[in-house]
Amino acid sequence: MSIEKTSPIGFFDSGVGGLSVLAKFRAILENENILYFGDLKNLPYGNKSKTELVGFAQNILDFFESKNVKAVVIACNTSSALAYESIKNKYNFKIYPIIQSCAKKISNMGFSTIGVFATQGTIFTHAYKNEINKYDKNINVIEIACPNWVEIVEGIESNIDEHFDLKTKCSEMLKYNPQKIILGCTHYPYLIDKLTEFVPREMFINPSEIFVDFIKEDLEKSNLLNPTIQKGIEEFFVSARQEDFVKNAQIFYQIKQNPQIINLA
Ligand code: DGL
Repeated sequence: MSIEKTSPIGFFDSGVGGLSVLAKFRAILENENILYFGDLKNLPYGNKSKTELVGFAQNILDFFESKNVKAVVIACNTSSALAYESIKNKYNFKIYPIIQSCAKKISNMGFSTIGVFATQGTIFTHAYKNEINKYDKNINVIEIACPNWVEIVEGIESNIDEHFDLKTKCSEMLKYNPQKIILGCTHYPYLIDKLTEFVPREMFINPSEIFVDFIKEDLEKSNLLNPTIQKGIEEFFVSARQEDFVKNAQIFYQIKQNPQIINLA
């Protein structure tokens, strides 16, 4: 099958976090056809090994390939940090990883100290630091892992004191006097109201906004934008916990049909 301009774009994440990217994407490109995969069977990604994450990404991209996508959006920082390098040359469609796609723009914003809140996996690889310092090695990037935040957003039971956990991470970050703090996990925008109890709202950068502009520009340059004017079709897939996905999806995005369960491995 040949890739067409009307072919769909695949988005994936461990759960509903990637819908925060899809929502921004929809605001600028209404007509693209979308497939969204939430890998709830393997959620959270933040504590998984590189080998596991490469395996998950490959399975998802193979699935998208079978659907003849023209591009895949890695709407997950952890997968971008740990899996992207290993899979980037294996497919004949475009692959957009969130961290690598946003780093240049972030490095050009004129800030000398930037904080990052992200999952353990993302912080462990120093993906934000390495990518930002590729463009400007003088930017001081402060990285803090927030291992429990995805579970909070996905409503997974734990004995974490949410208020205390958010407050502790914010105080730790503020000690370094960052000018901006990147929400380096696509689940975190959900926590913004709670985070602003401790840090002014304007200090946060949601990289999804930069990311979707980058994708649009690149599709345009590659002559891959869908020329049709009708609203795009959307299909949702999950690897487990269909009902939880439907319940949590509304945090970020109005999904109009139930997701199909797909067993990839
Ligand atoms: N939303 C993801 C990210 O941006 C994955 C988080 C997780 O499952 O731990 O990193």
